[in-house]
Amino acid sequence: MNVDKGYVDAPIDPALDLRSEILRLKQEHNAVIMAHYYQRQEIQELADYIGDSLALAQLAAKTDAEVIVLCGVHFMGETAKILCPEKTVIVPDLSAGCSLADSCPADEFEAFVNAHPDHTVVSYVNTSAAVKAVTDVVVTSSNAKQIVESLPADAKIIFGPDRNLGNYINSITGREMLLWDGACHVHEQFSLKKLLDLRRQYPEAKVLVHPECPKPIRILADKVGSTQALLNYAVNDEAQQFIVCTESGILFQMQRQCPEKTFIPAPPEDGTCACNECNYMKLITLEKLYNSLLYLQPTIEVDPDIAARAVKPIERMLDISKQLGIIK
Ligand code: 13P
Ligand code: SF4
Repeated sequence: MNVDKGYVDAPIDPALDLRSEILRLKQEHNAVIMAHYYQRQEIQELADYIGDSLALAQLAAKTDAEVIVLCGVHFMGETAKILCPEKTVIVPDLSAGCSLADSCPADEFEAFVNAHPDHTVVSYVNTSAAVKAVTDVVVTSSNAKQIVESLPADAKIIFGPDRNLGNYINSITGREMLLWDGACHVHEQFSLKKLLDLRRQYPEAKVLVHPECPKPIRILADKVGSTQALLNYAVNDEAQQFIVCTESGILFQMQRQCPEKTFIPAPPEDGTCACNECNYMKLITLEKLYNSLLYLQPTIEVDPDIAARAVKPIERMLDISKQLGIIK
């Protein structure tokens, strides 16, 4: 089967009911479909599990399914494969990358790490397996604060690759971690002016911000947190209107769980678009999901030597998160 384009490029009978075929194939292959909150609505509707990066890693580590179809981006599939090397792990389009992970080439990061041998290396999960292989502990936006705080107070720390998340963690923990200068092109794009305009237009609205956003956006937040934390806040807070500064896919879940509340996506700087989408996340379509389940391709493969090193900081993250009660 041809997967040169990163996905199975095979014709699909237009008469097929893709949704029921996907469910049938899932049963046939003992597969589980996991989706990140930034996925298209139709993918989230079909998924067995929807979650943030931490939940997806934890679910991958626990599942009994033989096949994991990860509807998200490449590093999420890699994390699942590293945790479950014996399973077939599929990302329906392997070109679903991540600008943040790309902002941290493994050879350059390793040189940075080697230049600071007395530092503990903390890496955001949005990194390649090769970066994780030179990392002491992985974090996600759900547990970064607690994991950094769990390190000795006098520990010298390298944090990569997201300078915005790193700055945020420094500001709330009082640490002075040495930051890699990377960023996510989606979260860097929010327009401060348009956000201020929205706040004037909706003075009662609470502002929800992902920590991958830069400080001028972050300081306007009523809540800074991972996608799961922002969703929880929207569900539990008494406010009826929320301005959401993260990728717009999360609005589907917010609206689904709070049909009576109003969610307003914060717009990017460029163009006339009202919301901010991750072009990589949106590469996963129903057609690619269907073909990936039909042909069990394209699979994620990780060099075994890199995987053997990368699994340690990922498992350390899961262990600390369990000890601290962040996950069960
Ligand atoms: P979380 O869902 O873990 O908050 O991550 C956001 C993100 O940018 C994923 O790429
Ligand atoms: Fe990567 Fe940003 Fe897309 Fe998340 S939103 S997958 S960090 S490019």
